[in-house]
Amino acid sequence: MMEEEFGGNVKQLLSKLFKSSIESTVPSEHHVLPLISISKNFGGDYQCNNAMGLFGKIKKTMPEFENPKSVGEAIIKNLPESEVIESCSIAGPGFVNVVLSTTWLAKNIQKMLMEGIQTWAPKLTIKKAVVDFSSPNIAKEMHVGHLRSTIIGDTLAKILEFSGVEVLRRNHVGDWGTQFGMLIEFLFEQWPQWDESDDHNKIPIEDLQVFYKQAKKRFDDDAIFKEKAQKAVVSLQSGEQPKYTKAWAQICEISRREFQKLYNCLGVHIEEKGESFYNRYIPEVLEDLRKEGLIEECKGAQVINIKGKKIPLIVVKRDGGFNYACTDLTALWYRIKEEEAEWIIYVTDVGQSEHFEMVFHAAKQAKWLPRDGNALPKATHVGFGLVLGEDGKRFRTRSSEVVRLVDLLDKAKDRSKEALIKRGKAAEWTEEELEKTAEAVGYGAVKFFDLRDNRLTNYTFNYDQMLNDKGKTAVYLLYAHARICSIIRKSGKDIEELKKGGEIVLDDQYERALGLRLLQFSEIVEEACSNLLPNVICEYLYNLSIDFTKFNDHCKVIGTAEETSRLLLCEAIGVVMRKCFELLGITPVYKL
Ligand code: ARG
Repeated sequence: MMEEEFGGNVKQLLSKLFKSSIESTVPSEHHVLPLISISKNFGGDYQCNNAMGLFGKIKKTMPEFENPKSVGEAIIKNLPESEVIESCSIAGPGFVNVVLSTTWLAKNIQKMLMEGIQTWAPKLTIKKAVVDFSSPNIAKEMHVGHLRSTIIGDTLAKILEFSGVEVLRRNHVGDWGTQFGMLIEFLFEQWPQWDESDDHNKIPIEDLQVFYKQAKKRFDDDAIFKEKAQKAVVSLQSGEQPKYTKAWAQICEISRREFQKLYNCLGVHIEEKGESFYNRYIPEVLEDLRKEGLIEECKGAQVINIKGKKIPLIVVKRDGGFNYACTDLTALWYRIKEEEAEWIIYVTDVGQSEHFEMVFHAAKQAKWLPRDGNALPKATHVGFGLVLGEDGKRFRTRSSEVVRLVDLLDKAKDRSKEALIKRGKAAEWTEEELEKTAEAVGYGAVKFFDLRDNRLTNYTFNYDQMLNDKGKTAVYLLYAHARICSIIRKSGKDIEELKKGGEIVLDDQYERALGLRLLQFSEIVEEACSNLLPNVICEYLYNLSIDFTKFNDHCKVIGTAEETSRLLLCEAIGVVMRKCFELLGITPVYKL
């Protein structure tokens, strides 16, 4: 019997077996790709769906096949002998229903326990990717949309990193817009002596957004100030006046410190390469586009006409200034040509999808990206829906938004702390344990709620739902995990010792269901990577927790004949759950 090299992906393994069988069953159709999916209706584990399509193609040339069913039967007969498959049967019109070998499932879980969850990481062909996420604007509000981008982007970066991709985590902050002329000029006006000060901390701005609003008012009300501000932008962007550059840098630094508070809170690591970074490459890029004959004049502006779009992509404004699109084109160029990224991913609200569509299209016209969207390098816009308030309108917080975003997370933490205290944990745990757990649960709840549904859907921000201990919430999942840990703790056994001598057996139906679920981890992560969908992992983690809950209701662990096997199974669930939590940016708790 063939020993299969199992790289973690059951679907791939079955594909290999079925490919070989299809080749010998219908030699003329040897190029056909096996259609393998998780079995939904036929009581098996997986199914192969090729027989129907194949029959349509060969019914004239291979009269020995009377119907799809007979093709399916032949596929079963020709399957190479393998330790992976227990049995196959025909279901419906010709689906091949596959039952995996329980022994094989158990053996591979045990192997993962010995060799680590990393052995189940998907192996992607992509080597380097850019994930452009968070990306708030200096001095303007950082709102829940940026929070979503930060949470989703961080998870995408994590699943790609786990799958062996080098990820450049990029914070494309808006640090180069026309707002700076107004801010700098207002700064000079308010503090004429400012130039003397060298100390960054001495910039007397308490709240940058309040300052922004005051400057904006001045800009709107006074034509002379407005003119000065517009000139200031030119001075800044030309880089010739150190005073302007210095003022700009200090304003950016104030914002940066604010943003960092949120990143620390979320445990998110990200590297800033803001819009200003790409400024120096713009002339070269425009030159390249011109050479390709892509840039045209339109009402005094320079534009790129995009096939199939009514409005062109403006790259140089009438006043000669570079805009958002120009910077994005240049950043895309830089990421492809200089950083040699093969996949460039942008995480923003769906409102910007048209912008990215146009930028990607222009990049294809410029031959930076291949026309074939599946070839590398490729660029993808990861859009997401709105966060709504209870009133059904866009969720907004007032004034200093960064502070409010941190508050938002802390409120979830406070509420989870209250719940823990109500359950008597203040007496059981140290203050530090209480604090840490409340933070893990509270922050985790907000993150999970943001990630659990398809990112394109809007959701309503609601603490009661996020912090519910039932249903698809972080709290329920963290409880399940803590329960597993408590079983292992209470057994008094040393898992490392058990791993050496013990054996996993999946005789009971609840054990087997768990075993199958565990083995699907790798293909789930792969699916989340290919479609850039964090909710796929949330869904998996939730199903795994449900499987565990059922097992826990039906199968006793401690003091039974199956104790060793079941403790090892619990450990494996714990390992997989912790990896999922990590990928979702959630801190697991061991007691709850
Ligand atoms: N700063 C932009 C905003 O707040 C998001 C930037 C997204 N990234 C990009 N490369 N355009 O809407």
